[in-house]
Amino acid sequence: MEKNIKFPVVDLSKLNGEERDQTMALINDACENWGFFEIVNHGLPHDLMDKVEKMTKEHYKNSMERKFNDMLKAKGLDKLETEVEDVDWESTFYLRHLPQSNLNDIPDMSDEYRTAMKDFGKRLENLAEDLLDLLCENLGLEKGYLKKVFHGTKGPTFGTKVSNYPSCPKPEMIKGLRAHTDAGGLILLFQDDKVSGLQLLKDGDWVDVPPLNHSIVINLGDQLEVITNGKYKSVSHRVVTQKEGNRMSIASFYNPGSDAEISPASSLVGKESEYPSFVFDDYMKLYAGVKFQPKEPRFEAMKNASAATDLKPTAAVETF
Ligand code: OGA
Ligand code: NI
Repeated sequence: MEKNIKFPVVDLSKLNGEERDQTMALINDACENWGFFEIVNHGLPHDLMDKVEKMTKEHYKNSMERKFNDMLKAKGLDKLETEVEDVDWESTFYLRHLPQSNLNDIPDMSDEYRTAMKDFGKRLENLAEDLLDLLCENLGLEKGYLKKVFHGTKGPTFGTKVSNYPSCPKPEMIKGLRAHTDAGGLILLFQDDKVSGLQLLKDGDWVDVPPLNHSIVINLGDQLEVITNGKYKSVSHRVVTQKEGNRMSIASFYNPGSDAEISPASSLVGKESEYPSFVFDDYMKLYAGVKFQPKEPRFEAMKNASAATDLKPTAAVETF
């Protein structure tokens, strides 16, 4: 039976008015109970978003589609006779903005696309920092606390994964992206406004993250679960494939810097924390091999660095 659940949509413009308290409470509830929320009136210009979407779709057609189809053939996925559980039905490329931009090194991007992605990235970076401060406020942490933790000595890591999930003849045989939690901090996702596919796990059920024109989907990564001592959770999510339509998604990851020291905030810890403390890069080294496995063994392994070798890497994945 369909459950009566309502995916949290937050109108950020209400933070400037009479409904500020309710809006902050909605964000807090989403962070505690969903690990996800969708924001509107976030200040990103709609014409920039439209341009980014249009150019990303063109870029896929011109530079990625042939490679994707070759990959399907090479991996035997053009047949899809049995369920496939070790490959994702996605076409991706990565842009890094911080600590150093690699935008000028990406081949096949027009100057116009590069400029649009740079502008979009900068605005998302600012939005991520504003959102972290809203989280601080809800958590009773001083303003700037999360930004400071993420800073390390080199500043945060901020990157964008540009994905397309092409239509798939047999959606039941393969996922667009297998279930996982994100390793990092705060994730800002600009997803296709028509073709759906992203789902999150809520109380044991997969719930759709509905496409909503000009919205940005926010979710919390493992680092925020550790820093908040589990008050907020990173939540498992996946992308299902669709028979009709190519789904675009642009996921930007605002993560700690490589040498940032991550630990539960002392004001959020009672007697002793269940969560580990570690250097972010060490977590990422572990995550790269076990992304599609549950997070709990990762947290356990990080408690005792030598135990990290007990986790069996399945596949290395490029990630932020
Ligand atoms: C990810 C992710 C979702 C999407 O890249 O970690 O969850 O819709 N992406 O592309
Ligand atoms: Ni993810």
